[in-house]
Formats: sequence, C-alpha cells, structure tokens
Amino acid sequence: MAIDWDAAYRNGEVFWDRGAPSPPLKQYLERHPVHGRSLVPGCGRGHEVALAVAHGLDVTGLDLAPTGLAEARALYPPLAGRFVAGNLFDPPAAMRGAFDVVLEHTCMSALHPTLRASYRHGIDLTLRPGGLLIGVWYINPSLDAGDEGPPFPFSVPALTALFADGYEIVADYVPDVAFSGREGRERVRVLRRAG
Ligand SMILES: C[S@@+](CC[C@H](N)C(=O)[O-])C[C@H]1O[C@@H](n2cnc3c(N)ncnc32)[C@H](O)[C@@H]1O
Repeated sequence: MAIDWDAAYRNGEVFWDRGAPSPPLKQYLERHPVHGRSLVPGCGRGHEVALAVAHGLDVTGLDLAPTGLAEARALYPPLAGRFVAGNLFDPPAAMRGAFDVVLEHTCMSALHPTLRASYRHGIDLTLRPGGLLIGVWYINPSLDAGDEGPPFPFSVPALTALFADGYEIVADYVPDVAFSGREGRERVRVLRRAG
C-alpha cells in the first residue's frame, strides 16, 4: 500500500515531527567536522536542513510531499530555496552524483521494506564516490500492537546487508541522546561510499 505523504501533511497527521532536529545528528555534527554539498532525503518540515546549515553545510532537502516542503519554507524562510520537490528513487538530474554527504533521519524507516533497495539505489544515485552517508537509523521503533508501520521495523543486520557492498562503516554506535520515546531505539551509523 502506497503511503500518501502529502495527505499526512495536509491533515496534520505528522506524528514523527518533533519540531526540532534529531538530537543524535546534532551531536554528531557538533563532534565531527563535516563539509561539502549535502542532501537530506525525505526532509519533511526541514529541521535537519536547518541543522546542517547551522553547521556550515551547503544542504538541499528533498521530499515527495509539496505540503511538507511548503511547511518547511514557512518554518525556515531564509532556507526556502533549499527545499526541493522530488523522489529520491528517481532524483532530479542536478542531484545525481552531486553530494559529498547524505544526512539520513527517518526517511529510510518511513519506507515499506519492499522499498529499501530503491532507497539504497537513490543514495547511490545522489552520493558521489567517496562521500559520506551519515545516518540516524530508527532501528527499533515503538509500535502499537498490530501496527506494522510506518515507521517500519528495521534491524542492524538488515542495515548492514543493505549497504554491504560498496560502502564501509566508519562510525557505528547507539547514541546517548534521543527524542523522548526513541531512547535506545536508534543507531548512528556512518558509511563511506567506495571511491
Ligand atoms: C516519516 S517522514 C520524516 C520527515 C523528516 N525526515 C523528519 O524527521 O521530520 C518521511 C518523509 O519522507 C518523505 N518521502 C517518502 N518517500 C520519499 C521518496 N521516495 N523521496 C523523497 N521523499 C520521500 C515523506 O514525504 C516524508 O516527508
């Protein structure tokens, strides 16, 4: 079943949005110098785009949902031009091979497991060889009984398998900061694409 992401924004059903950037991603960028042209796939209301700008990155947020992007522009007017409509699985020509860094936060976990290979392909299409995929991967989401997602349950072995070829792990840990309710459920894993 395809998810109508724009309807979720139009209806205000954005349960994932915490109104602030991901604490583990913020902590990572505070601790590690990261440079270059960067992409936030599935950027939603744009909090991680604003975080990346605050850390000096030249960042673009990509999302399928025009309403989500309109809300991002309203929240962060000076960054309006950084929010672009499009599909990670078939990115605009100007984005292909264009990024030194991809910042992942709750895009992957929002996708049905059948779309994970398409996500990986989208990263391959946008991240240059040698570039960094810096991810806060929502590994073990809290779901109500009978709820299959999104967010869809994901495992560390599945993450490892998805990027087993063509990427090396350069950082990997359970972060000690999190949004309320996500403590111990996320993993920071940074992958470098083979050059
Ligand atoms: C769970 S939301 C997370 C939004 C944002 N990352 C956050 O943490 O607030 C997932 C987002 O991914 C977007 N999305 C889903 N599939 C996508 C695709 N193929 N290409 C680009 N964006 C996509 C949705 O529109 C939605 O805004």
